[in-house]
Amino acid sequence: MNILQKSRVVLFGPPGSGKGTQGKELSKFLAINHISSGDLFRTHLGRGTALGIKAKEYMSEGLLVPDEITVMMVLEEILSPVNHQGFIMDGFPRNLTQAESLDSNLSQRGSQIDVVVSISVPQDELIRRLSNRWTCRDCQSPSQAPTSSDTTNTCSSCGGTLYQREDDKPDAVATRIQIYQSETEPLINYYAAQGIIEKVSGVGSEVEVNKRILEALKHYGLSRSHV
Ligand code: AP5
Ligand code: MG
Repeated sequence: MNILQKSRVVLFGPPGSGKGTQGKELSKFLAINHISSGDLFRTHLGRGTALGIKAKEYMSEGLLVPDEITVMMVLEEILSPVNHQGFIMDGFPRNLTQAESLDSNLSQRGSQIDVVVSISVPQDELIRRLSNRWTCRDCQSPSQAPTSSDTTNTCSSCGGTLYQREDDKPDAVATRIQIYQSETEPLINYYAAQGIIEKVSGVGSEVEVNKRILEALKHYGLSRSHV
């Protein structure tokens, strides 16, 4: 049986830093859900909901979706009973309004974020990764762009079809990185003031980065143990 002492984790970092990649791995390891705000929006978009159609106006340009839409959608997910044991949050919060809404809603329920893992990757590497990323329409896992000799074009995790995200085109990537620097990165100080930030280098293999994150989580008493 898995025992989780603390389990509300935020994965923080610029576009392409590996939040989705690491979120999926940590979710398996810690047996708690990975919640990605970008994946939630893309799921709405795939279903053609009003929320998804509205979000697309902003996402395709690389802009933040307005807080009134985003906060409601993410909190509904975080506060749902299946996530009461904990979650790995990826892509939220991205500005001070979102961070304060998250804190206040969790504290009303006697809960809080336990640790924020900030993954850093140099900008030229972010651009290289995003220009080379394709995404699964079904499970949203990231993959490398298919080579010309690769005729399958399917996801190695679930067999779904791969596509290139609209916001992985160069102009949208530049906007996303700029918005990260101006609106999201300042939250590092917000969480540092709470004493819950862990900074991890996202350079190296996915396995190496994963080991660094697991090591950082141990400082907060968060690990998988077996009894
Ligand atoms: P979202 O989907 O969250 O995008 P993002 O934050 O820009 O991050 P990415 O998903 O692009 O990158 P990632 O860090 O997950 O990296 P990944 O693991 O895929 O948001 C999209 C949009 O939705 C936003 O722009 C906004 O419009 C809207 N939105 C979402 N949340 C919002 C919010 N809170 N408020 C307002 N609007 C919001 O890895 C990238 C690539 O690198 C992959 O190909 C992967 O295979 C590869 N890779 C991963 N790790 C490594 C490694 N160690 N070495 C080499 N390659 C690696
Ligand atoms: Mg992602």
